[in-house]
Amino acid sequence: MNDLHRAEMADHDLAEAMDKLVIVKSAIYTSGECDPREPPPRQDTTGRLHLMGHDPRLAKMPDKPTLFDFFRLRFGPAVHMLQSARLALKTGCDEKVILACLLHDCSAAGFIRADHGYWAAQLIAPYVDEEVAFAVRYHQVLRFYPDESFDYQYPDSYVRLFGPDYKPEPYLDRAYEYCLNHKWYGTARLLTVNDLYSFDPNLHVELEEFTDIVGRNFRQPGEGLGFDDSPSAHMWRTINWPTRYL
Ligand SMILES: [Fe+2]
Ligand SMILES: [Fe+2]
Repeated sequence: MNDLHRAEMADHDLAEAMDKLVIVKSAIYTSGECDPREPPPRQDTTGRLHLMGHDPRLAKMPDKPTLFDFFRLRFGPAVHMLQSARLALKTGCDEKVILACLLHDCSAAGFIRADHGYWAAQLIAPYVDEEVAFAVRYHQVLRFYPDESFDYQYPDSYVRLFGPDYKPEPYLDRAYEYCLNHKWYGTARLLTVNDLYSFDPNLHVELEEFTDIVGRNFRQPGEGLGFDDSPSAHMWRTINWPTRYL
């Protein structure tokens, strides 16, 4: 069987699987495109079952998924996080900062963009040192506030992305004040310093470069992420099976 034939078979299998399923998007996927005050559009579900597991359009995750499985199968190419972690490694940061760099945008990459620092911190909190989760949570906040003592300026990219008049919301001002006075401010700030805002298209970084650092600093559950009953297990399950009906 050649590659083309194999691809056609896969397409055929997928089409057949899809014909048997009802897949409904969560409101958060469609809010804005649809008015969440309205009932969702009705579809003809005769003879089909509502999806309650793996979505056949996605790469299937192993039964006991590891952090790296999520990187490979759900977090996109993750180039930005890998390059940030590499930079932290090169600049001699300690392992907590390197791990924080590696994980910091995992929510934006594979879950939810809005308040991505908060979501990412919650996702990883059961598995990492509290200081790492703290840095990940507050990197989102600190990015808006310069600190000359760390040679950190307001990102040019934010001026381009959000316009010169954008002002952070008051909740961000409050979070910034809190973080600034916290004993782990420096860790969170170092994350923003190594949080690259321009990608180098020529710099290739392999996930495996961080195997040891992750091994020492991320408590990978034996049951697999999502199946270990941690306070964020349900969030990992949702990333694994994002379109389950319930
Ligand atoms: Fe970020
Ligand atoms: Fe980032």
